[in-house]
Amino acid sequence: MKTIDELVDEGVGGKRVFVRADLNVPLSGTTITDDGRIRAVVPTIAKLAEAGAKVIVASHLGRPKGAPDPQFSLAPVAARLGELLGAQVAFATDTVGESARATVDALTDGSVALLENLRFNPGETSKDDTERGAFAEQLAALAELYVGDGFGAVHRKHASVYDLPARLPHAAGLLIATEVAVLRKLTEDVSRPYAVVLGGAKVSDKLGVIDHLLERADRILIGGGMAYTFLKAQGHEVGKSLLQEDQIPAVTEYLERAKARGVEFVLPVDVVASPDFPDLRNPVDTNPVAVGADAIPADLEGLDIGPESRKLFASKLADAATVFWNGPMGVFEHPDYAEGTRAIAQALVDSPAFTVVGGGDSAAAVRILGFDETAFGHISTGGGASLEYLEGKTLPGLAALED
Ligand code: 3PG
Repeated sequence: MKTIDELVDEGVGGKRVFVRADLNVPLSGTTITDDGRIRAVVPTIAKLAEAGAKVIVASHLGRPKGAPDPQFSLAPVAARLGELLGAQVAFATDTVGESARATVDALTDGSVALLENLRFNPGETSKDDTERGAFAEQLAALAELYVGDGFGAVHRKHASVYDLPARLPHAAGLLIATEVAVLRKLTEDVSRPYAVVLGGAKVSDKLGVIDHLLERADRILIGGGMAYTFLKAQGHEVGKSLLQEDQIPAVTEYLERAKARGVEFVLPVDVVASPDFPDLRNPVDTNPVAVGADAIPADLEGLDIGPESRKLFASKLADAATVFWNGPMGVFEHPDYAEGTRAIAQALVDSPAFTVVGGGDSAAAVRILGFDETAFGHISTGGGASLEYLEGKTLPGLAALED
C-alpha cells in the first residue's frame, strides 16, 4: 500500500487529487451533532493542500436512494470542513455534473473542494459492475490521483471506494494507515486478557464478529439491545425488550461454544426499563426502573444495562490488557438510559489497557457524553468496517489500495 508521504514525495503540486473520505456524520436537521469523522480526515487533506495539490474531497452521507435528497446533502459538512481547515471549501452541488466540473476547474493549487453526496448517483452503490464502473470513470475524469481515506466505508464495494482507485494512481491516507495499524494489533499481536464489549441494537449485525472473537477473546461482555436475545436464549423473559427470535439458535450455540472454549461470556444481571421507548427529540423524565435481568416484567422494555451490571462489567474490564468496544449499552441519547454506556466509557478511561472504541455509535457516544478522546487508546471512525476487519474479511476499499 503506497503511503501518502510517498505520493507527496513523488509530487502532487498542481495535481487534482481525489480524496475519498467518510464524512457520514450524524445530523439533526442541518446541524452536525458529532464532527469526529470530519476532524479525522483533516490531516490528510491539509497535507495534500500544503503540498500544493488541488484537493477534491468526496463522501457519502446517510443512505439516499441513488437520487438527490436534500436531507442528505453534504453542504453542512463543507462549511464545517472549511472551519476546521481554516480555509474556504468550495462545494459542488452535484457529483460528476456541471457543478462538479466547474468547481474542480476553478480549484487553485492548495485549495479544497467537496463534492455533493456520492450516493445521489445510483452508480455509487450499484451491485452491477458495469454501472459502478461507468460512475467510477466519470469520477476518474475529475482527478489525476486518488487517496483512499474513508476508513468507515472500506467494507463497501462502492464505485468511489473500490472501482475508482483501479483507474487512478493511488495511495492510502493518514487515517486509513492509523486505523489499519491499530486493528492489526488486535488481530495479530494482542496483549491478554483481551476483553470485548459488544452492544447496539441487533445481534444479527454482530454474528460474524462474535463467531470470530470466540476463537480469540478471553472475555465477551454483551449489552445494548442485542443482550435481550442472549437473555431469552438463557430462558429469561424479556418483556417488551428488543428481541430477535430467529437468532436464538445462533446465540445458544455461541453460549455453548464459549463455555467449551473457556471464553467468559458476561451478560447484564439487571437492566433499566420503562413501559415505552423514550421520545429522543423531547427527552423528558421517563421514570425508569431497574429490574433483574431474569425478571423483566411483561409490560416493560429494557433500555440500558442496570447499576449492578455496570459494576460487573467495569470489574471485568479492570484487569484486561486489551479492550475493544463496539456498540452502546443502551439508548444513550436519552439521559435516563445513558449511564450504562457512560460506565463502559469510564471503565475504558480508568483502565491501563490498550483500549479501542470501534466506531459508529459508540465513538459518537463517547464524544456526546463529554469524554476526552485522548483518554482512549484509539477511537475508530469505522463501525461496520472495524467489525469486518476484526472478522478477518477482505475489505474492498483496502484491497483496492494494495496494488
Ligand atoms: C458507517 O457509518 O458505518 C459508514 O459511513 C458506512 O455507512 P453505510 O453503512 O451506510 O455504508
